[in-house]
Amino acid sequence: MKEKEPGAKTQIPQSIKIEVLDRGPLLVFGRPPLRLQFIMTDEQGAGLNFRAGRAFDTSAEPTALCRCGASSHKPYCDGSHEHAEWESELTADLKPLLEGARYYRGEGVVLADNERYCVSARFCDARGGAWNLVEKSSDPAARDIVEQEANHCPNSRLSVWDPATGQSREKKLPPALGLIEDPAMGVSGGVLVTGCIPVENQAGERYELRNRVVLCRCGASSNKPYCDGAHIGERFRDGIQGTPDGEEW
Ligand code: SF4
Ligand code: FES
Repeated sequence: MKEKEPGAKTQIPQSIKIEVLDRGPLLVFGRPPLRLQFIMTDEQGAGLNFRAGRAFDTSAEPTALCRCGASSHKPYCDGSHEHAEWESELTADLKPLLEGARYYRGEGVVLADNERYCVSARFCDARGGAWNLVEKSSDPAARDIVEQEANHCPNSRLSVWDPATGQSREKKLPPALGLIEDPAMGVSGGVLVTGCIPVENQAGERYELRNRVVLCRCGASSNKPYCDGAHIGERFRDGIQGTPDGEEW
């Protein structure tokens, strides 16, 4: 069985894309929606789902979003990257994430796991844990939890596949951006990019198209442009006021 890349056939509006400047902000083109996205958790702090908060203007073409963590006007860039102390280098692979993945095979589902892309959002910890439940996935209830948890894994560390056909069980998300907020940890996270929006570096090289990606906006990730969970250790707070009062997903 060979797992097939889920993003390959996805169509998104031509104009939407993100350009990551070498030593500057994320340039957002095409005016995608941008909202706060809160990680909602159980009593133990494990992630259950996202809930949206207020929206932000992306009508400037392009809209520059801070990725150094130093702007006084977050989520937007205010030029602080020019004087801030931060490591801007883009160190992430352009190659497909699945090339570095391990596979956990159950009767009901296959879980692919590339640890390098974890952003510590903890959706995989709830209700018994995704890896444990793969072993029990002949039970449809266990299989469904694994699929739900993997489909919330924001940076695609985890993905789910049909064990018989190798087809993706990715839940397609609309093209949109989210500012991750993690109230249980008392921190803000990266920029959630859904719906296979193209992400390119300044040289025009394109990162793998994915349905779920998180880009660093604290400046501390060692896997830039992706988030790697470093914002938790950094205690990154964007200072943006807002509450989780929108739709859950
Ligand atoms: S990013 Fe994915 S793998 Fe990492 S804790 Fe969250 S759900 Fe689990
Ligand atoms: S936002 Fe920078 S590591 Fe997560």
